[in-house]
Amino acid sequence: MLKTKIAVLVSGGGTNLQALIDSGVLKSGEIVLVVSNNENAYALKRAEKAGIKTAVVVKKGVPQEEFEESLIKVLEENGIEMVILAGFMCILTGDFTRRYPNRIINVHPSLIPSFCGKGFYGLRVHEAALSYGVKVTGATVHYVNEIPDGGKIIMQKAVEVHDGDTPEILQRRVMEQAEWIILPQAAEKVAESISKSR
Ligand code: GAR
Repeated sequence: MLKTKIAVLVSGGGTNLQALIDSGVLKSGEIVLVVSNNENAYALKRAEKAGIKTAVVVKKGVPQEEFEESLIKVLEENGIEMVILAGFMCILTGDFTRRYPNRIINVHPSLIPSFCGKGFYGLRVHEAALSYGVKVTGATVHYVNEIPDGGKIIMQKAVEVHDGDTPEILQRRVMEQAEWIILPQAAEKVAESISKSR
């Protein structure tokens, strides 16, 4: 069976990208491109080390429509069939998401519908969870539509909050115990269904 051609969109450190590369779980898809809005993202180095093609699409100072058109152009040039948002800190509108219905997935570091939507990203999510005082948090992988963090949920995994947690400690636990596990699993599920539907 032909593997689903995947692009991973990143903005920062890229530990979720690394999990996708290393886990061995993603068998029905191949990461053929890593795209970042940030040319200094360490995730780009991880991609290069793994021999994966990279591209930078600048967002800063660029109108949303133009940014999304540039993204679509690079995805189309590379024959991309599925998109994984792995720490991609840019909002995408319906103009973009409608191009890939049920073919874009995102990992979010909380149990959606808690601590999600506009303004909830990265460490801020864990800061909010700690200040609310939740005792259980986790991660969610979901389809991406025009509503930020609003698409149908594919997988979730719960993680305990411990007394004395800082946002950084909690972020690391959520990554280790949830994100790095469920992102490859959910990616495989979606990649498999795309390759079977061909
Ligand atoms: C991850 O925790 C990811 O879930 C989160 O940013 C971090 C990126 O880390 N994404 C969001 O908050 C999106 N709303 P990484 O670059 O090491 O994968």
